[in-house]
Amino acid sequence: MRLSQFGETLSADSSIVSLMDDLGSALRDNPDMLFLGGGNPARIPAVEAALSGALKDALADPEKAWQMLGVYQSPAGDTQLRQELADCLRRRYQWPISAENIALANGSQSAFFVLFNLFAGKMTDGSARHIQLPLVPEYLGYSELGLGSDFYRASRPDIELIGEHSFKYHVDFSRFAIDADSAALCVSRPTNPTGNVIADAELAGLDERAKAAGVPLIIDGAYGLPFPGIVFTEACAHWNENTVLVLSLSKLGLPGVRTAIVIADEPIIRAFAQANTVLSLAAGNVGPAITRELLASEQLLQMGREKVAPFYRERCEQTVTLLRAALQGLPYRIHQPEGAIFLWLWFEGLPVPSDELYKRLKARGVLIIAGEHFFPGLQEPWAHQYECVRISYAQPAHVVEQAALILAEEVARAYHSG
Ligand SMILES: Cc1ncc(COP(=O)(O)O)c(C=O)c1O
Repeated sequence: MRLSQFGETLSADSSIVSLMDDLGSALRDNPDMLFLGGGNPARIPAVEAALSGALKDALADPEKAWQMLGVYQSPAGDTQLRQELADCLRRRYQWPISAENIALANGSQSAFFVLFNLFAGKMTDGSARHIQLPLVPEYLGYSELGLGSDFYRASRPDIELIGEHSFKYHVDFSRFAIDADSAALCVSRPTNPTGNVIADAELAGLDERAKAAGVPLIIDGAYGLPFPGIVFTEACAHWNENTVLVLSLSKLGLPGVRTAIVIADEPIIRAFAQANTVLSLAAGNVGPAITRELLASEQLLQMGREKVAPFYRERCEQTVTLLRAALQGLPYRIHQPEGAIFLWLWFEGLPVPSDELYKRLKARGVLIIAGEHFFPGLQEPWAHQYECVRISYAQPAHVVEQAALILAEEVARAYHSG
């Protein structure tokens, strides 16, 4: 087989593919694995019931069922949903948006592929532009999306040490700079992998700088606001005409329907919808149909706030308590958990790289994610990168508990004998 540069880039081994490979094998083929790896959402019975109820309602009416299963959507996706969603967000947040500011896509991963490559890469004048990540660690799934070399630039964060065993990353505004070749800023909020929620003031600082530089600020709201709202701190949903807000139904409990929602200025939405049509022909209808039912019953925002976020918050607190007991005596720090479905652990001076720790744990039936893959675009060497791991707390509590004990044993072994 002879592959093009595109073929080689996209078919090469990558962190996101091995993560999804681990996820598939643990959750479908090898259920004995203790799975704290990829970002599959938890099973929350009340949410499952609401989502399958919404799907049943969409299927019950033959006209609606036909619209859902038998008809291609127009380029920006289900017009009625785009209108209803715009109305809902305008009422709730006073965002000045209409259906023309919204496009639907088949999952946010593919939406990011389109967005990033619309803005960055080779320009028509022969120059090249990059996506700027104001801080790393940042979502590893971005890494291979760029169709060009040197596609990301990232800045190291400021680290605030909190007590003996906590810490928090902040945007280091003294380090982070938007240069003439920056095409857009992008930040996930809450951040995958750290559970960091960059503060409203920090976001306002990024917004101001992005506007001044004439580049959009992309906010990856896969876990965030307005939905699914897995945020444990006081934080406001943010949008203005310079923002590209990317939302997803996945962490609400619907990763199987592959639906994302992009909210942006109209010219961006038009460009996005056209490019997405070339790639996908049309966005799927099942996720949008469920979303319409949830909007009609006023559950879309409410479900995140009342059922999803409290579930993860409780699971998060239990997992932190468990880890604190298991890791006693070891030099660990846990990133302040402010949202999403992960904990980010930092083992300062860890004698083996995080990928080796991942392999040792995998051999013992525990899947985590090595931290070193979450630094796309960071060009300077940084030992910290190899000292962190990400664990998910979305699996049942007994799985998390067993896995935490094995994790602690392996970390202790690494410190004591390398
Ligand atoms: C931060 C972040 N962005 C985007 C995605 C992609 O999600 P999806 O394609 O399911 O919408 C994920 C998936 O885990 C994620 O964690």
